[in-house]
Amino acid sequence: MTEEYALRCVLMLCCALLSANASNWLYLAKLSSLGSIRDEETCERLRGLIQRQVQICKRSVEVMDAVRRGAQLAIDECQFQFRNRRWNCSTLETMPVFGKVVTQGTREAAFVYAISAASVAFAVTRACSSGELEKCGCDHNVHGSSPEGFQWSGCSDNIAYGVAFSQSFVDVRERSKGQSSSRALMNLHNNEAGRKAVLSHMRVECKCHGVSGSCEVKTCWKAMPPFRKVGNVIKEKFDGATEVEQRKVGSSKVLVPRNSQFKPHTDEDLVYLEPSPDFCEHDPRTPGMLGTVGRQCNRTSKAIDGCELMCCGRGFQTQEVEVVDRCSCKFHWCCYVKCKQCRKMVEMHTCR
Ligand SMILES: *[C@@H]1O[C@H](CO)[C@@H](O)[C@H](O)[C@H]1NC(C)=O
Ligand SMILES: *[C@@H]1O[C@H](CO)[C@@H](O)[C@H](O)[C@H]1NC(C)=O
Repeated sequence: MTEEYALRCVLMLCCALLSANASNWLYLAKLSSLGSIRDEETCERLRGLIQRQVQICKRSVEVMDAVRRGAQLAIDECQFQFRNRRWNCSTLETMPVFGKVVTQGTREAAFVYAISAASVAFAVTRACSSGELEKCGCDHNVHGSSPEGFQWSGCSDNIAYGVAFSQSFVDVRERSKGQSSSRALMNLHNNEAGRKAVLSHMRVECKCHGVSGSCEVKTCWKAMPPFRKVGNVIKEKFDGATEVEQRKVGSSKVLVPRNSQFKPHTDEDLVYLEPSPDFCEHDPRTPGMLGTVGRQCNRTSKAIDGCELMCCGRGFQTQEVEVVDRCSCKFHWCCYVKCKQCRKMVEMHTCR
């Protein structure tokens, strides 16, 4: 083997490994030292973007700070939703930020893709509403009076813009031609399910106008749910996710439940291809596989946060730790609440 050939093999292997992960753009959340993403030149230097995302970046530089906030939002929400699970959504300082956990077609990967696609739609829409973007603003299709007798007014969130941007930016790798692997189908489905979690929980918020809140005139606008709500919805979908496999129907490929007894999944459900590992032990060869040694657990819970399941049968240690709490709070006229600090001892259990 010539040296050049060997080098090319290594490069190709690296490319294959890198491109095997369509969620590398989440690495944007780690680039806080970069400052604002202001010019096209910066787009070239953003690690984690594939070439077509760099092109989108250049076309829509002003949206990129929102995309980066979206990446951070996705990571934070994942860590919140998984705080009591064996895999707790820890990030690495390298790509992919969740390590090997998202390179396999597991339920955890399904969650990560869904929450990421949702978070970009959410953060971009928020940026539109706040007036920081020239390309979009409030949703002006929402106006006039409603059948319920209120006036549409104020800034309705332009979720259509955020969703469209998320589709073009987040899905770009899977939408390119030749990507009809079962994994690409899985990612696309879960991305779409994530965005649906925002879309189908849009709400109407209103304000009353009139003498002393009499509500003679009511004005309302469409608003996104809080992102925590989106996280809760996607976590529920994670709990009920469907294991699927690829099937050929006519000339196209689709994902169908592996167990034909199960009812087919809907557009809003999460799907996955492979069972998850047990996440019990630290595996230095598998980035992101931290294991559960040292994790806190709940002695009385029978669920996954309970010491039995969390510690994978290895047992746990108990320590007395002092916690400082606010207590005997008193309301003072007017208007503040004053509390004392109380110290108390609580038992804390950690996995062996
Ligand atoms: C997840 O658990 C590991 C221990 O296994 C801990 O070091 C890490 O800080 C936790 N991460 C988060 C985000 O809670
Ligand atoms: C531990 O689990 C029990 C039963 O699920 C629950 O009632 C309790 O609030 C949990 N304790 C903590 C500290 O989370």
